[in-house]
Amino acid sequence: MKLYVVMVGLPARGKSTLAKRIQLGLEQQKISAAIFNNGELRRVLHGMRSASPDFFNPDNAEARELRRQISLQNMERARAWLDSGGDVAIIDATNGSEEQRATLVATLRDRPILFIECVNNDALLLDASIKRKTRLPEFSCLSPEEALESFRRRLAYYESVYAPLGKERCWMRVDAVSNSILAEAPSNALPYYAAIRDIVVSRWVQHLYLVRHMETEYNLEGRLGGDPPLTEQGFRQAARLAAHFANKELPYIFTSTKRRSAQTASLLLQDRPGTVRMALPEFDEINAGVCEGMRYSDVLERMPLEYQARARNKYNYVYPGGESYAMLKERVGRGLRRALFLAGEGTLMIVGHQAINRTILSLFLFQRAEDVPYTYIPQTQYYHITITQRRKLFELSDYDVV
Ligand code: F6P
Repeated sequence: MKLYVVMVGLPARGKSTLAKRIQLGLEQQKISAAIFNNGELRRVLHGMRSASPDFFNPDNAEARELRRQISLQNMERARAWLDSGGDVAIIDATNGSEEQRATLVATLRDRPILFIECVNNDALLLDASIKRKTRLPEFSCLSPEEALESFRRRLAYYESVYAPLGKERCWMRVDAVSNSILAEAPSNALPYYAAIRDIVVSRWVQHLYLVRHMETEYNLEGRLGGDPPLTEQGFRQAARLAAHFANKELPYIFTSTKRRSAQTASLLLQDRPGTVRMALPEFDEINAGVCEGMRYSDVLERMPLEYQARARNKYNYVYPGGESYAMLKERVGRGLRRALFLAGEGTLMIVGHQAINRTILSLFLFQRAEDVPYTYIPQTQYYHITITQRRKLFELSDYDVV
């Protein structure tokens, strides 16, 4: 049983990440899969000159023909690989126009095709993914502004011919940020459909390092929230954390918008010019409303009823003018999806806060809600999280061990 999977979607929508996950997921089930990427072939065959926006202009007949040739060559490579024993050939390209998909259907008649469309309507993620694309080697001779302009023009050409799936025989439309299927036309006859569907809706994390910010004056005084800086001891801890990770690749570090989180990350970033650091407000500590800046003992003294109400039901308790753990689930979940999407399921670090890191852990673990606000989140250790189909790891490690 053999199958073509054809990825569909505008650039920066998460196609390649999903293609890779499908490949790995199938291979773990002893189904061989390989990816055939039009873009890579284009760069090999036509180099830098194919990076210009005009190469993607649908009215440029010469370029259109070259792109058609690349696409045909890629299909031939996929077919040859299936002929030589492969099970699932994944064609990774925009494949956005109906005309292009008709060519695929007409050319790949020998085996069934499953079309998978990736969509992503999160403006922040689109913007960040587009900026990341402009760091590709093909834009290396342009300034960052020129590269952005060039890529946006390319994107506009793709958009001008793009049509969503709907007419094809067997397809699914996937929200690449939430890993959910938005619409599908399944077929029982199609091999591996169920296996691929399971992979598509699963969330994978190769390496997530979940760190809590280092010591602050507020921590020493037991005060809630605020925006305090690190203490000297906090900076020493941050230096040890940076030394611990010195030999590890960290392409993405996400912080909150608070100083203590940014300062903890700052030492990690010092010798990593290629690392992307992004501050997401979704990772800001729980808002303690009128209790911000107070000590727990102040709350007990001045607002005993509030203190007791929280002690009785910490998960659902909403600080007056602030938040509850239950409310964090939604916003932290959004931040986590964004972070995982941007990191493309590669390695990432999140420098969060006590309640935030509890919530992040709870989003992976099947915890009882009432246990979430009591998960152990030390400042002297970090969680290393790995989640794939075969492996689920939550390990608390000491960063003092270099
Ligand atoms: O004490 C540090 C802190 O991050 C506070 O800013 C925050 O209000 C608190 O932890 C959250 O923990 P808990 O829900 O246990 O009070």
